[in-house]
Amino acid sequence: MKKMMIICLLAVASVLGVSAQSENEAIKNIMARTSVRKYTDQPVSKADIETMLRAGMAAPTAVNKQPWHFVVVTNREQLNALATANRGTGMAAKAPLAIIVCGDMQKTLSGVGQGFWVQDCSAATENILLAANALGLGAVWTGLYPNEERAKAVRDVVKAPENIVPLCTIVIGHPAENPAPKDKWKPENVSYNNFGEKTE
Ligand SMILES: Cc1cc2nc3c(=O)[nH]c(=O)nc-3n(C[C@H](O)[C@H](O)[C@H](O)COP(=O)(O)O)c2cc1C
Repeated sequence: MKKMMIICLLAVASVLGVSAQSENEAIKNIMARTSVRKYTDQPVSKADIETMLRAGMAAPTAVNKQPWHFVVVTNREQLNALATANRGTGMAAKAPLAIIVCGDMQKTLSGVGQGFWVQDCSAATENILLAANALGLGAVWTGLYPNEERAKAVRDVVKAPENIVPLCTIVIGHPAENPAPKDKWKPENVSYNNFGEKTE
C-alpha cells in the first residue's frame, strides 16, 4: 500500500514537472516554432519588423563584437529576385518580407576568432525566428553560407559590398499554412558525462 502511494506521488510529481515546463511561455514558444513557407498578402508591420530586429541583436555574440548586418527587404522586385538568386528561397516570391542576416567582415574578431561571426549570426537568426513565432508570424531560415555563388547572387540583389557576407535569408509573413512542429527529441543524441553514457 505504502509502495503504491509513493509510486502515485512520483507519477503526480512527474506530471506536474512536465506541465510546469510546458506552461512556461518562452519554452512553449521554442517548442512551437516551425518553418512556415506560405504567407498571406498582409504586410508585416514596421513595429513587428523592429521587434524581430531587436530580438536578433539581443543574441549572444563572441567578445560582444556584434559583427552582423540585417538587410530588411520589402520591395516586391527584390523579393522576387531573392527567390531566383537561391533555389531554397523560392517562397520569397510570395512573401511580404525577408531579412538577410549577414556577417560584416570589417566588424569580426581577427585571427582564429574571425569565424565566430557564423555562430553570432546563427544565434541572431534563431532569435528572429523565435520572435516571429511569438508575434504570430511564420518564418523560415533559408541557407546561403558557405555557398559563395548563392551569397554573391544575394549580395547583388541588395547591392551589398564585398565585406558583407550573407549567412541566410529569413523569409517572413503572416502564415497561410499551419504546419505542426516536428518532434526532434532523441535521447540517443545525448550523453551524460562521458560520450555514449546514457545515465547520469
Ligand atoms: C542552415 C539551414 C539552412 C536551411 N535552408 C533552407 C532552405 O534553403 N529552404 C527551406 O525551405 N528551408 C531551409 N531550412 C529550414 C529547414 O528545412 C528546417 O528547419 C528543417 O526541416 C526542420 O524543420 P523545422 O524548422 O520546422 O523544425 C534551413 C535550415 C537551416 C538551419
